Amino acid sequence: QGTMRINDRGHLEIGGCDTVELAERFGTPLYVLDEQYFRQNCRNYNRAFMEKYDGEVLYAAKTLLTLAICRIIAEEGLSLDVVSGGELYTAKKARFPMERVYFHGNNKSADELKLALEYKVGRIIVDNQYELLMLNKLAGEAGVHVKIMLRLTPGVEAHTHEYIKTGQIDSKFGIVIENGQAMEIIKQAMALENIQLTGLHCHIGSQIFEMESYTHAAEVMLGFTALVYQETGWQPEEMNFGGGLGIYYTSADEPQPVSKYADMLVPAVQTLAKSYGLITPRVLVEPGRSISGPAGTTLYTVGSVKEIPGIRTYVAVDGGMGDNPRPALYQSRYEALLANRADQQPEETVSIAGKCCESGDMLIWDINLPAPAPGDILAVSSTGAYNYSMSMNYNRLPRPAMVLVRDGAADIIIARETYDDLIRNDMVPERLGESKV
Ligand code: LLP
Repeated sequence: QGTMRINDRGHLEIGGCDTVELAERFGTPLYVLDEQYFRQNCRNYNRAFMEKYDGEVLYAAKTLLTLAICRIIAEEGLSLDVVSGGELYTAKKARFPMERVYFHGNNKSADELKLALEYKVGRIIVDNQYELLMLNKLAGEAGVHVKIMLRLTPGVEAHTHEYIKTGQIDSKFGIVIENGQAMEIIKQAMALENIQLTGLHCHIGSQIFEMESYTHAAEVMLGFTALVYQETGWQPEEMNFGGGLGIYYTSADEPQPVSKYADMLVPAVQTLAKSYGLITPRVLVEPGRSISGPAGTTLYTVGSVKEIPGIRTYVAVDGGMGDNPRPALYQSRYEALLANRADQQPEETVSIAGKCCESGDMLIWDINLPAPAPGDILAVSSTGAYNYSMSMNYNRLPRPAMVLVRDGAADIIIARETYDDLIRNDMVPERLGESKV
C-alpha cells in the first residue's frame, strides 16, 4: 500500500526511507506519514467528486491536523472541516484560505464563533437552535453576514461501531427531521437577518463500507428538501453528506473505492433532485480517515517479551494507548510487522502490549509475527487517522514525533514532546514555596 515496500536489507521502507533507519534517527515511538500516499488519497477525492461532478471535498481536520498537513491540503485544492477553535487557529496559522474552511461542532462557544467570524470562514455548520440564535446575534454585533448550513440527523444508521454512529435520531448531533424541528429551524434561519442559509448537512457515521448508507441518506435529505421547498420556497444550493468512508485496518475490512462512493452518491442526489423538481445541489463530502488513515504507520521498539507458557506471549512496546487510544476505546484492530525483519515468515502468535499502567493498554491481540525479540522495530499500519489527534499524556508519556517521508527524504512535522513540555503548564502555588521549581 502507498509507497511501502520491503527493501533488499529485508527492512520495511516507506516513502523511500528505511524505517529501521528512521527509528534510529528520530527515536521511537514514531509516527511516519507517507506524503505521496496522503496526496494520492486527496487526488482520488478530487477526481471523483470535484472534477467529475463539480463537488467539493472537505478534509476532516479531526483525523490529523498540523501546520504542514494544512499546507498539503491547501496545495491539493481541498477544503477543510474544522470542529474547534484550536483546529481553526491551526488553519489560520498555516495561512489556509479561510473561505475554504467549514466550521463544525455541536457546542461551539461564543468565543469560537467570534473567531470564525473574524477569520471569515466559508461556512458555519450550525448544529442547533441555540447556536443559530447566538450566531445571528454575534454576526450582527460584528456587522457581518454569515453563510451557514444546517446539520440534520437523517436517522440513517450506518453499520459501524456503536460509539461512532452519529446519523441516528437519538444523537447529540444535529437537528431531527422527523418531529418537525428541522422544518421549524429552517424557517427561523430564513428569517434571521445576519444569516444566509446556503445548504444542509448530515453525517451518518465513520468507517462505513456499505455505500447504500449514503444513497439512503440522500433519499432522506432530498425527500425532506422537497417538503421544505413546498412549504417555504427555499431550497439548498449545496448539500454536505459528511465523511465516513471506511479503510483497511485488517483483512476483515473491505474498503470501497472513492470513485464508487462518488458514483453512487452524486447521481443519486441528481436523480432525486430531478424527480422532486428541485435544482441539483452541489455535493460536498468530508472525508478524514480515508485520506490520512492509510498514509500513517507507527514505529515502536520492542522491549520486554514475556512468555506465559501455554497461555500467551506479551510483547511490550515503547508506546501504546497514549499514541493510539483506539484499541482501548473501540476495541479497534490493527495489523503490524517487524520492520527490521519484514522479509521473514511469521512463526509465533503473540500479543502486543503498550507501556501504560492499565491492563487495557493492548495494541494488538493475537498477531502472527517472526518471534519478536527486544530491540526489534514493530510497524503498526493505518495509524494516520485518529491516532496523533487523539493522543494523550497519560502516565506522563511524551507524545511521539511525526515525520513526513517522500522520495527518500524524512522531515519532522511534529517534534517529539520533551519532559519539559510535560511540566510546561504546571504551577506551584506560593504557599508550597519549598517545592519551587
Ligand atoms: N464530518 C463529520 C461531521 C464528522 O463527525 C466526522 C467524523 C467526519 C466528517 C470525518 O469522518 P471520517 O471520514 O474520518 O470517517 N474517533 C473515532 C472516529 C470519530 C468520527 C467522528 N466524526 C475513531 O477513531 O474511529
